[in-house]
Amino acid sequence: MTMSAPHSVGAQETTVLPPAGPNFDPGFLARAFRTQETQFPPIAGWSFDAGQGTDVAPAFGSLHGTLRGDAGWATGLVGAHALTLSGKPGSFVDIEEPIVDTAHSYTVMACVKLNRTSGFQTFVSIDGNQISGFFLQFRDDTDEFAITVPPIDNTAGDAAEASSQVAPETGVWYHLAGVYNADAQTLTLYVDGVAQQTVPCKSPWRATGHTAIGRGKYARNPVDFVNGSVDDVRAYNVALPAEEVRKVANADLKSVPSRVQDPSLPIRLQIDNDRLGPKISPMLYGLMTEEINYSYDGGLYGELIRNRTFQDDPGAPVHWSLVSTGGEGAIELDRNQPLNTNLPVSLKLTAPGGSRVGATNDGYWGIPVRPNTRYQASFYAKAGDGFTGPLEFAIESKDGTKTYAHTVVKKISGEWKQYSVTLQTGAGTESQDTRFVVSTGGKGTVWLNLVSLFPPTYRNRHHGNRIDLMEKLAAMKPAFLRMPGGNYLEGDTIATRFDWKKTLGPLMNRPGHPGPWQYRSSDGMGLLEFLNWCEDLKMEPLLAVYAGYSLKGEYVKPGPDLVPYVQDALDEIEYVTGDTSTRWGAQRAKDGHPAPFPLHYVEIGNEDWFDRSGSYDGRFGQFAAAIKAKYPRLELIATAATPNHVPDVLDEHFYRTARAMARDARHYDNYDRKGPKIFVGEWASQDIDRPWEQPEQKGPTPTLNSALGDAAWMTGMERNSDVVVLEAYAPLLVNVNPGGRQWAVNLIGYDALHSYGSPSYYAQVMFAANHGDTVIPATVTGGTDLYESITKDTKSGALYIKLVNTTSRARSVHVDTTGFGSIAPNGTAITLSGSSQRDTNTITEPTKIVPITTKISGLGKSFDYKLLPYSVTILKLKTK
Ligand code: AHR
Repeated sequence: MTMSAPHSVGAQETTVLPPAGPNFDPGFLARAFRTQETQFPPIAGWSFDAGQGTDVAPAFGSLHGTLRGDAGWATGLVGAHALTLSGKPGSFVDIEEPIVDTAHSYTVMACVKLNRTSGFQTFVSIDGNQISGFFLQFRDDTDEFAITVPPIDNTAGDAAEASSQVAPETGVWYHLAGVYNADAQTLTLYVDGVAQQTVPCKSPWRATGHTAIGRGKYARNPVDFVNGSVDDVRAYNVALPAEEVRKVANADLKSVPSRVQDPSLPIRLQIDNDRLGPKISPMLYGLMTEEINYSYDGGLYGELIRNRTFQDDPGAPVHWSLVSTGGEGAIELDRNQPLNTNLPVSLKLTAPGGSRVGATNDGYWGIPVRPNTRYQASFYAKAGDGFTGPLEFAIESKDGTKTYAHTVVKKISGEWKQYSVTLQTGAGTESQDTRFVVSTGGKGTVWLNLVSLFPPTYRNRHHGNRIDLMEKLAAMKPAFLRMPGGNYLEGDTIATRFDWKKTLGPLMNRPGHPGPWQYRSSDGMGLLEFLNWCEDLKMEPLLAVYAGYSLKGEYVKPGPDLVPYVQDALDEIEYVTGDTSTRWGAQRAKDGHPAPFPLHYVEIGNEDWFDRSGSYDGRFGQFAAAIKAKYPRLELIATAATPNHVPDVLDEHFYRTARAMARDARHYDNYDRKGPKIFVGEWASQDIDRPWEQPEQKGPTPTLNSALGDAAWMTGMERNSDVVVLEAYAPLLVNVNPGGRQWAVNLIGYDALHSYGSPSYYAQVMFAANHGDTVIPATVTGGTDLYESITKDTKSGALYIKLVNTTSRARSVHVDTTGFGSIAPNGTAITLSGSSQRDTNTITEPTKIVPITTKISGLGKSFDYKLLPYSVTILKLKTK
C-alpha cells in the first residue's frame, strides 16, 4: 500500500493500515495518523495527480478510488492534475468505503470548479441505503454551495443545510469544507476558508456505503453528477477548527483570489444627497399582458362560460355535456343554424319532453359560486320542431344535487333572439365544484349561441373584469399596460394575429381566434376592453401594433405588401386617441367610449429578433415613418436591432435564473446614455431553462428566491431610470389549475374562486409603491450579494432606501449620509422575507410570504440597520 506525497498540511509517513471493510473503524485511521506532525491529519484524501488510468491513489489514508464513466484527468489546482467530470450520469469516483463515520464529528473538504451552475451537483458524499449521509454540493434550488445532512436514511424529513453566501461562478476554483460537530450538534460550511453558515444538526445517522466523489444518492438512485473539476478532497474524523480549515483553503487556493467575503464583517452604505442622480421615469413600473395561461378567458375577463360560441373544437362541443334525467335527448354542434357569419356554429339541443334534458358547462375549472351574489346570464336562442320553451338556467354542484341559483325563461322564439336573465345565489358557502346548466322539460329542438354568464365585475363594468385580480393589479400601481404584448400580438400565423378590428363592438360581432398558446381566444378582451382596463387602473396604454411578422416565421415584405398593415396600425392609434370627428374615434364612441385615451408609446411588433429574414429593419422603418408623420409626438419602441433606423426606445427581454438576475443587477450602470431609451418589456427570475416547454416543472408562481433575484434586478432598473424608462414583469397571470398554464413561472396565480400574489408580486408592489422622483447616489462597501437603490421625493423629502439581501444571513448595515439637513429619528420599514429561499405562496397558502410594515426608530444622519436573511427591505425616512 503506497501513499502519495503529501502537500500543504499534514506530512505523513507511510503507514500500514488494515484493509477497509464492513467493520471499518474510521477512528483507527485517525489514531494511526495522530502520530503525524500536524495536529489534524486527514483520515483520507485524494489529490488526483496520477493523470492517467482509472486508479485514484490516496494522498492521505489508504483508500483507493476508481474513475467511473467518462471521469478523467484535467489540469490541477493542487498538484499536476485534478479530477474532471462531465456531468453525465455514471461519471464519478467510486471509493468502496465510507471515509468518515457520519454519526460522529467529521470534516470533509474539496476544491471544486463548476462548468455550469444549474442542476444539483454533489462533490463528495457517502451512500446510505436510500440517501447520502451528507452532500457537499452545489444546490440548484438556492444557487449556493452547501453541506446538506439528511436526518434519516430516506428522503423524508428536513435536512440540515449550511449554505454559502456566494452564488458560485463557473470556471472559478473554490475551496469547500463541511464540518459536522457532534458535540455542539452543528453543521458549518466554509467557502475559501471563510465560515459561511452554521446550522443546528442533531444526531446524524451512520452512512456505511461507498464514498462518491462527483455524485450523491437520493431515493436509492445516484444523482447530482458534477459537471466540472474536483481537486484535493480530504476527510477528517474531527470537526476541524476554523483556523485549520482556513490554512488548508489558503494553501490550496494559493494565488486564486477568493471571491468570498466574510459575512460577519459590517456593510457600509454611504448615501450622498450632495449630488442628485437621475430622475426616475414616472412611467417606470407597468404591466405586460397577453392571452397566455388563461390570463383573460378563465382569468381576468369575467366570463364564466367556457366555449361560449362553440368554436373551441370543430369536432365536439367541448366543455359542454348532456344532462338528461331520463337518458334521452342530445346535444351536438350544428353549422346549419349559424347565429351570423362571425358565430357560425350553434349548439343544437334536442329534448324528448317530459323529463329534464339540457347542456352543462364546466366553466374554467368550475363556476365560482359566492353567497348572496347576482350573476348576469345572456344567450341567443332559436326554437324549432315545435319547441316554445321553457328554458331553465341554473348554477349547480357538479353532481347536480345542489342548486345555488336558478331562473326560467318561459318562451323561446322561433327566430334568433338574445335573452338576458339574472341568477341570484342565497346565503351559504363558496364553491367552485360546480357547473352551469341550461335545460328544459319541453319537447323539440332549441339552438343556442353566445351563452354567457358574468359575476359582479370591477367597477361594475358590463362584461368587465374579475374583481380580485383587478384589485391585485391596482396594488401594483402600474403606470402603463403593454397591450396586447408577447407572442399573442403576433399569432402563430398572419391570419391568427391579434386582429384588433375583429375585437370591437357587440360580442356577436367577434369571431374570436386561435391563440399561439394552444387555445382559442374569445376576444371578449378586445381593444376597447384593454383600454377600459387602463382607465380603471389609471394607467396608460402602451400600444403594441402588429408589425408584419408572426411566430412561425411568416412575414410581410417591407414595401407595398406592408402598406395595409401600416394603415391598420394608424387606424388603431386613431381608435385609441382620435376625437369623434375621426373615423376610428367615432367608432370608439359608438362602441361606448367617446373620450380619447392618452397614448405616448407605441411598440412596433414583438421580439422581432426571431425574424430570421432580416425584414424587421425595413418593416420598423416603414411603420415608424408613417406613424411619426401623423403622430410626431408618439415615442416608438423597436423590439430588435434596426441598423438603419434609430427608435426612441428599445424593448429588451430577460428571462433568467434568480442568480443571473442578481448578478447582472448593474447591467445598466454603464449603459450608453446617448442611444435609445430602454423598455425592459418582459423579464422575470425563473429557475427553469425552457419555461414554455415544461411548465409543470416549476411554479406556477415564483419562490422567494426568484423574488430576491427580481428585487436585485429592479434596484438596477430604478437606479438607471434615466435610461430604463419602462419595465414590466412577464407573464403576469396564471390559472393554476392542471392544464391552465403554458409558461412555468408567473406573477399572480388563481383558480375560479381565489387568487394570490407570489413573493415576486409583492416585490413588484413594494418597488412600484415606494420610490421618489430622483435617484440619490450611494455606495456599498463590504457587501457582495447586497443590492441597493436609494431614491428621494424631492418635494416631500421622503427618502426610500431599498436593500436586497440575497443571502441566508442577517446582515448589519451601517448607513452614513451626507447632504441632508436632518433625518427624522422615526421611519418605516417594509420587509419581504422568509426562512428559506424555497418559501412561496400558493393557492392554499396565499400569504406565507408578504411584506410586513413596521415602525422603526433610532434613525439619523448615520444609523445601523439589521437586514433579515433572504430579504427585500425598504426603509422610508423623513429628511430635510
Ligand atoms: O411572456 C411569455 C412570452 O415570452 C411572450 O409571449 C414572448 O414575447 C416571450 O418570448
